[in-house]
Amino acid sequence: MMPMFPEVSRFLKDEPLKMYIGGSWCDAADGGTFETVDPGDGRFLARVASGAGADVDAAAAAADKAFRARGWADLPANDRAVLLHRLADLVDRRRDILAQIESLDVGKPFTHARDGDIPNVAQTLRYFADLSVHMRRREPIAVSGFDARSVRAPYGVCAFIFPWNFPLLLVGWGIAPALAAGNTVVIKPAEETPLSTLYFCKLAEEAGIPSGVINVVTGFGHTAGAALAKHPGIRRMSFTGSPEVGRLIGEACGRNLVPVKLELGGKGAAVVFDDVDVDSTARALAAAVTANTGQVCCTATRWIIQRRVFEKVLGTAEKALAATRIGHGSEPETEMGPLVSEKQRHRVLGYLDRGEKEGAKCLVRGGKADIKGHEGGFYVKPALLSGPPDNICAREEIFGPVAYLMPFDDEAEAVALVNRSAHGLANSVWSADLERANRVAEAMVAGNSWINAHNLFPHGVPYGGWNLSGMGGGVNSPETFHDYLRAQSIVRPL
Ligand code: NAI
Ligand code: MG
Repeated sequence: MMPMFPEVSRFLKDEPLKMYIGGSWCDAADGGTFETVDPGDGRFLARVASGAGADVDAAAAAADKAFRARGWADLPANDRAVLLHRLADLVDRRRDILAQIESLDVGKPFTHARDGDIPNVAQTLRYFADLSVHMRRREPIAVSGFDARSVRAPYGVCAFIFPWNFPLLLVGWGIAPALAAGNTVVIKPAEETPLSTLYFCKLAEEAGIPSGVINVVTGFGHTAGAALAKHPGIRRMSFTGSPEVGRLIGEACGRNLVPVKLELGGKGAAVVFDDVDVDSTARALAAAVTANTGQVCCTATRWIIQRRVFEKVLGTAEKALAATRIGHGSEPETEMGPLVSEKQRHRVLGYLDRGEKEGAKCLVRGGKADIKGHEGGFYVKPALLSGPPDNICAREEIFGPVAYLMPFDDEAEAVALVNRSAHGLANSVWSADLERANRVAEAMVAGNSWINAHNLFPHGVPYGGWNLSGMGGGVNSPETFHDYLRAQSIVRPL
C-alpha cells in the first residue's frame, strides 16, 4: 500500500473539514457534520461540515456580493485568464496530493486519478481561460435601417450540484467555463466525495481567485442540494447525477425560471461489425466496462455484436475481464477499485439478480469480490449478461462493471437496438468500413457517437446528452462557454 502523503494526513485531520464560503472556512450554521469513508476498506476517512439551508443562503449571498463587487466579472478577460492559469499550475503542482485525496475518497486507482482526472482538470481550466480571451462578446448585427449589435455578459451566481464518480474532474468541467465567462459559483459536491473539491478551494485561494468567486457547501442532497436548487439568488443551474434527482432540479428551476443544464445517466451502446479486429475491439470494450468500476455515465454497457463474431468477442472480453486486477486504489497494481459505497454495491448486485430473474443469461458471473486485507471494501467482479432487449439490465443504467450483450444480423437491426434506449448520451460503432461507421454514427440518436473507440473527450468537441440523459447542452466546447453568458441585443434606428 502506498503511504499517505504528509500533506494529505494534515488536510484530513481537521475536525470537521470546513466549507468554503466568501473566502472563509466555516462550520455548518447548525454545527452538523457527516463522515466520508474510504470505499476500499469501508473505514472512516474524514469528518466534514454538513451544510443546509442557512449555509446555502450564506454561500449564495457571498457569490452575489463577489459578482456585484466587480472584482471578477469586470476584470479584463486577460486578467481573469491569468488567474485561472495560475490555478491550473497549482493543480498540476499538487497533482499527487489531489490524486491521493480523490483515490481515497472515491476508491479509484491512484494512478488513474494522477494520470487522468487531475491533469484533465488543469487542461480544462487552461482551455476555457484561453478561449475566453479570444471569444468575442460584442458583435455587430447587419440589418438594414438599424445600427444593431449583440453583447454577452455573465449571468451572476451559477450553482452546481455534482455526483461522486469523477468528483474533481466534473468540478473542473463544470465551473471552468462559468468562471472564465466572469460568473461566480456555488458548488455542492456529492456527500460521498467532498474532499478534493475542498482541497481545490485551498489552491484557488493560493492562486489569488478573489473571495466569494468560488464557494462550496458540503452536505446531503435533500438538505444542501435541495436548498441550492431552489435558491432565488441563483441565475443558472447545472446538475450531474441521476434522472430522478435531475427531474427535481428541473422542477425547482422551472419554478424560478432559471436556465438549467442536466447531465444525467446513459446506457451507451457499442455496435461491433464483423469486419473489426476482434482482439483489440473486445479488449477495448472490456476496458470500458472496468473503467472507474463502471461508474461512468457514457461507457459501453450494451454491446451489440454482429452474430458471426459474437462468440469471439465474448471469449476475448471474458479473458480480459478475468485478468483485471481488482483491489484498493492505493495498491500500485490495481486496475479496478471498489464501487463508491455499500449503497451503490447493493444497487449493482440488485440489478444482476433482477436481470437474471427476468431471463437474462449470465455469460460472465459478477457478484461481490473479496479482497484480502480489505474485507470491508465495496468490491464487485465485472459481469456480462445476454438476453432480450427489454430486460431491465438492457434498459436501465446500472453504474457498475456490467455489460449486456445482444447479437445482430444487419445494420438496420443494430441501429434499431441502439435507439430503443430511453437514454441518449453516447454510443460507439466499430467497423473497418468507415463509410458504414459514419452512417451508423449519425443514425444513433444521442449527444455523441464515437468511431472505433469509446469514451473520447477532446477539449473543443461538445459532449452532452438528450432524452433521459439530460438537456441544456454539454461540456468542454466553445458552446459551453457561451452557455455561461447571457445574450443581449442593442438596437438604434438609423
Ligand atoms: P444522485 O442523483 O442522488 O446524486 C447526485 C448529486 O445530487 C449529489 O450531490 C446528491 O447529494 C445530489 N442530490 C440528491 N438528491 C437531491 C435533491 N433532492 N436535491 C438536490 N440535490 C440532490 O445520484 P446517486 O444516488 O448518488 O446515484 C444513483 C444513480 O444515479 C447511479 O447509480 C447512477 O445510475 C446515476 N448517476 C449518474 C451520474 C452521471 O454521471 N450522470 C453520476 C452519479 C450517479
Ligand atoms: Mg445520492
